[in-house]
Amino acid sequence: MLLTNLREEIDATLARDPAARSRLEVVLCYPGFHALVWHRLAHWLWQHRWLLSGRFASHIGRVLTGIEIHPGARIGKRVFIDHGMGVVVGETAEVGDDCTLYQGVTLGGTSLRQEKRHPTLGNGVIVGSHAQILGPFRVGDGARIGAAAVVLTEVPDGATMVGNPARQVARRDPPSEVKPTFQPYAVCGDIPDPVARALNGLLDEVRTLRARFAELENARARERPVLDGDTIGNRALRFATGNGVEDD
Ligand SMILES: CC(C)(COP(=O)(O)OP(=O)(O)OC[C@H]1O[C@@H](n2cnc3c(N)ncnc32)[C@H](O)[C@@H]1OP(=O)(O)O)[C@@H](O)C(=O)NCCC(=O)NCCS
Repeated sequence: MLLTNLREEIDATLARDPAARSRLEVVLCYPGFHALVWHRLAHWLWQHRWLLSGRFASHIGRVLTGIEIHPGARIGKRVFIDHGMGVVVGETAEVGDDCTLYQGVTLGGTSLRQEKRHPTLGNGVIVGSHAQILGPFRVGDGARIGAAAVVLTEVPDGATMVGNPARQVARRDPPSEVKPTFQPYAVCGDIPDPVARALNGLLDEVRTLRARFAELENARARERPVLDGDTIGNRALRFATGNGVEDD
């Protein structure tokens, strides 16, 4: 059971980080994976009332990885903590299956009382780097929390939250269709190819410049006086002799 869970976590890392090349690399070099292994031990000790041992195991995990997960926190399956440094997960926090947390994320509390005071993440939630989710509310399945967002209130399923305080900028609709599928760095799957994007930008620019050029040509044509043959002759003569060209 434990080994199956560990294997699933390794595979989740491989699936969600294009930089990961092999299971061995994940086992040896991924602090997020190490932190979860230490947390499994710490949580087991905590549940069996070995509270100090649980805290100590959690502390060793923190020293080795820079990721602080309280032994009381409940962490689901296939959770991926990428980079991880500075992540803090509080005592009463819950993290659903298939969630992804980036570095600097806090699942924190806003009260000192011994009660549920940290957030609960649903399944498939992606939390961007340095986002802070503070308080005992729920973040719905498939929600995406932008980098550096400060989330202080309940988040509906499938919502995208950004800013401080966080506001909802998008929501996959209807929420029942929210599937906890992974989107790298939480960005939408329908982002156009960057080269196509650059070309489209250039074409827009060319279109704008053409329109401006046509406008200037029309304006110039309107301003230019209609010169008959006689006037042209007189101007040429005065130009040649240097006499009063500017009088016209
Ligand atoms: C929030 C996020 C998920 C949105 O991605 P998206 O669905 O592709 O949305 P868009 O980029 O179209 O942005 C939608 C709006 O939110 C704003 N926005 C996006 N991310 C934001 C952020 N982190 N903070 C503030 N505003 C943000 C955009 O400017 C845009 O605003 P506009 O509609 O006024 O122009 C994504 O930007 C993000 O922050 N992902 C986390 C990435 C991360 O932490 N990576 C760590 C790698 S180590």
